[in-house]
Amino acid sequence: MTSFPTSSDPQMLSPQALRKLIESRRAVRRFTAEAIPDEVIVDCLELAVLAPNSCNLQPWSFQVIRDPALLTKLHPVCMSQNAAKAPLIIAVLARPDTWQQACESIIDQWPEPEVPARIQSFYRKTAPFQYNQGPMGLYGFLKRQLLRVMALSKPLMRTPNSKAQMRIWAVKSTSLAAQNLMLAFQSHGYSTCPMEGFDEVRLRRTLDIPRAAIPIMLLAVGKQGEKGIYNPRLRFPMEQHVTWL
Ligand SMILES: Cc1cc2nc3c(=O)[nH]c(=O)nc-3n(C[C@H](O)[C@H](O)[C@H](O)COP(=O)(O)O)c2cc1C
Repeated sequence: MTSFPTSSDPQMLSPQALRKLIESRRAVRRFTAEAIPDEVIVDCLELAVLAPNSCNLQPWSFQVIRDPALLTKLHPVCMSQNAAKAPLIIAVLARPDTWQQACESIIDQWPEPEVPARIQSFYRKTAPFQYNQGPMGLYGFLKRQLLRVMALSKPLMRTPNSKAQMRIWAVKSTSLAAQNLMLAFQSHGYSTCPMEGFDEVRLRRTLDIPRAAIPIMLLAVGKQGEKGIYNPRLRFPMEQHVTWL
């Protein structure tokens, strides 16, 4: 039987070490020019995609931008902000359009000699039913009507049943991968700044981003420069955003 590591593993990172890593990450807006080794970038991307994600369909892609000429072109696209002068920028893209290919890949790349029947059934029948919104979202519309009636008698998942909900669906998982990516760079001694301050139309043109992909953020990465952190940390008290039921 396959054995999986568990959270009670004695090798596991201590809560204090995890807290230290998370607390040490800040949005850094000034970087040195020092390049980031490719091995580090690869390691961080490997950790990014270990993020939990919906049905393991991994609806994300990443563009790693190291070419100085392209970085120079990106700077004005990112509203000329300081963070965008980083020696490395990773475009984090949510992909509501790749689930079909992912269903096939899961079956093709299943990490055991036999693909279990429940897995085959899920990725060949259930997932296509859940995620295929049809031409102009027509199936999604019909599913929404059907669900309204069926859910009168039992609890049913109501989303994603439209193209817009598919975009939210992909963004959720991709955001988790982005956070993993930031923490991974932090663990290697590199700082990051997530950026949504960019002109999306120009960005799509500059990076040749597929039409259906959603650039959720550009991640600036590098060694923290002088005065790289602009402000002291501020978070609201827990009572302001946590409800205990
Ligand atoms: C989705 C997203 C978009 C952001 N966009 C920008 C940005 O364009 N430029 C910038 O300087 N910081 C940006 N930030 C960084 C936030 O301003 C920063 O995370 C926040 O102020 C909290 O600070 P801290 O990360 O240091 O704790 C962004 C953060 C997120 C999560």
